[in-house]
Amino acid sequence: MFKVNENYLFLKESYLFSTIAEKVEKYKTTNPGADLIRLGIGDVTLPLPPSVIKAIHTSADEMGSRETFRGYGPEQGYSFLRDKIVEIDYLQKGIVIANDEVFISDGSKSDTGNIGDILGEENVVAITDPVYPVYLDTTIMRIGKSNKILLLECEEDNGFLPQLPKEHVDVVYLCYPNNPTGTVMTKSELKRWVDWALENNSLILFDSAYEAYIQDENVPKSIYEIENAERCAIEFRSFSKNAGFTGLRCSYTVVPMSLKTKLANGTEININKLWNRRQSTKFNGTPYIVQRAAEAIYTTEGQREVKEMVAYYMNNANIIRQGLINKGWRVFGGENSPYVWMKCPNGLDSWEFFDHLLNKCHIVGTPGVGFGSKGQGYFRLTAFNSLEKTVEAVERIISVQ
Ligand code: MLT
Repeated sequence: MFKVNENYLFLKESYLFSTIAEKVEKYKTTNPGADLIRLGIGDVTLPLPPSVIKAIHTSADEMGSRETFRGYGPEQGYSFLRDKIVEIDYLQKGIVIANDEVFISDGSKSDTGNIGDILGEENVVAITDPVYPVYLDTTIMRIGKSNKILLLECEEDNGFLPQLPKEHVDVVYLCYPNNPTGTVMTKSELKRWVDWALENNSLILFDSAYEAYIQDENVPKSIYEIENAERCAIEFRSFSKNAGFTGLRCSYTVVPMSLKTKLANGTEININKLWNRRQSTKFNGTPYIVQRAAEAIYTTEGQREVKEMVAYYMNNANIIRQGLINKGWRVFGGENSPYVWMKCPNGLDSWEFFDHLLNKCHIVGTPGVGFGSKGQGYFRLTAFNSLEKTVEAVERIISVQ
């Protein structure tokens, strides 16, 4: 009898957003007339920016001509894109990152999950609760439901920020601006984590997929704004939420050359080399056309278009936030993030409130408990729908008791 990876049996039967999609489909079948507004999964709705579309057309034409056709590209990504990332996302902001420290990929979901391939099973892994489910699920897939997974509880009283672990921890996932709570860490708060990691020889897996939404100047957009973070952190960035690439798929991961660890016998290990080995073996690179599309974001025009897109969604976030506050509900996030996190009213639990919003307002949101037990009694709404639908959703919420 062949064997399966039994760690999968510890997972919930389906991925959070698949469960919600199924529930919504069922509701639609029994309520065919319902005009649903989706503020659930963080999927964008605006079309791709014009400069991106132009780059897709041009590069598609290149693929159709013998002279300019491209087959396999470099697994790490083309230099034309890596150079732009280095220049505009880092060097221009005073952060020194080299081209070979950047790995282009098809999404931060893949990379934050796959990074476990290069980490030892004996590591103690700390994960916040609530959390973007990918970190926890992929860790369970790898090491099972073991006592090596430490949940860092994030509660309203501490602004949904995790405390530094008292126990020994080897690896910690941090995501700021946070999904799902929409909260952020200031520079000094993030510095405490970097100092802790350096002191404990721990690794920080820093997901900054939502950095474009940061409005507050005291909030770092990159963990490498913190001194010496390149010795203890990997950073994940995505084009999904700032440039509308959820369907196109492109992201990147920074693995600094100075990030090292040691084997028991003292041999030094370069993490960049390991990730490079993993990627070149298991991944054949992001499509050329997609990388050209991502490159277009870095043109003057592209930068302007992307800023407009983020501003559009931030306006939605503000509308949701203010609407819920006016209703007298307790609201978090939405100021440096496309996610608004709220306490469910009237003592409802997360799924009860999900049903309430679906039945009474025809609005789909995400139950906080889906992100972890500390999310129970909370709820997440996203700013990624259109302005019109967002306004209507808030009106519906306000008019229902
Ligand atoms: C979310 O809704 O949390 C995100 O869309 C999920 C993702 O980016 O994978």
